[in-house]
Amino acid sequence: MIDRFFHTEDVNSENNNTPLDPHNIPTHIAIIMDGNGRWAKNKGLPRIAGHREGMKVINKVVEKADELGVKYLTLYAFSTENWKRPKTEVDFLMKLPERFLSKELPKLQKNNVKVRIMGDESLLPSHTVQAVRKAVEETSDNTGLLLNFALNYGSRHELVQMMKKTGEDIASGSINPEDIDEEMVSKRLLSNGLPDPDLLIRTSGEIRLSNFMLWQLAYSEFWFTEVLWPDFKDKDLIEAIHTFQQRKRRYGGV
Ligand code: FPP
Repeated sequence: MIDRFFHTEDVNSENNNTPLDPHNIPTHIAIIMDGNGRWAKNKGLPRIAGHREGMKVINKVVEKADELGVKYLTLYAFSTENWKRPKTEVDFLMKLPERFLSKELPKLQKNNVKVRIMGDESLLPSHTVQAVRKAVEETSDNTGLLLNFALNYGSRHELVQMMKKTGEDIASGSINPEDIDEEMVSKRLLSNGLPDPDLLIRTSGEIRLSNFMLWQLAYSEFWFTEVLWPDFKDKDLIEAIHTFQQRKRRYGGV
């Protein structure tokens, strides 16, 4: 069964020799950046070293995705469940957005990248929120690739919040239950304004969604690789898009 999900070496090299179809680039790619801890462990390093290395990969992926014509890139940086990790690791992860943005914001600006955050900001430390908000504000007029950080994001939490708010709006009479349709639900989620991801990538060999964009990924193509996130290279992104281009999306039709 696993072979149906993972590419083989042969498919890999063959695909990398075939140019991508520029007319069929996924508009929105979402990535579950997994395997930082194992990458560090394999090297006898502390887990945070894996996160540091994982952060360095982001810039390269943003640049390559942009170059290939991807318009939206959503990165799962911290889930609502990640608070269960040791405090030292959580504290380190919470410092990564400011570290990343203080170094990379000028380059993101130069490349016309627009930064956005998707998640419950209320539980994030103020230094994290401030750094991200600054980047969101300063890049708000940019018109290039939209880089969406899922930070303290959990799909079930997002759906519960949306349902609570919708219930309140019904109770106050501002909407009627009959008004609720798929478009309204999408607009009431944190991803409002973004198209649903065309392609989901998860690294590190895990084949699960881990509470990530459950509504939005309803018709996305999934691509899993055993590559650990800190080892993720341009060629892996290209391979994922190649595989995407070979899929026939039917959206329930024939
Ligand atoms: C999962 O690997 C990774 C995370 C929970 C954190 C991902 C964060 C980054 C890649 C950097 C974020 C940077 C910015 C700028 C927001 P894991 O720790 O679960 O790995 P393991 O499964 O091997 O233990």
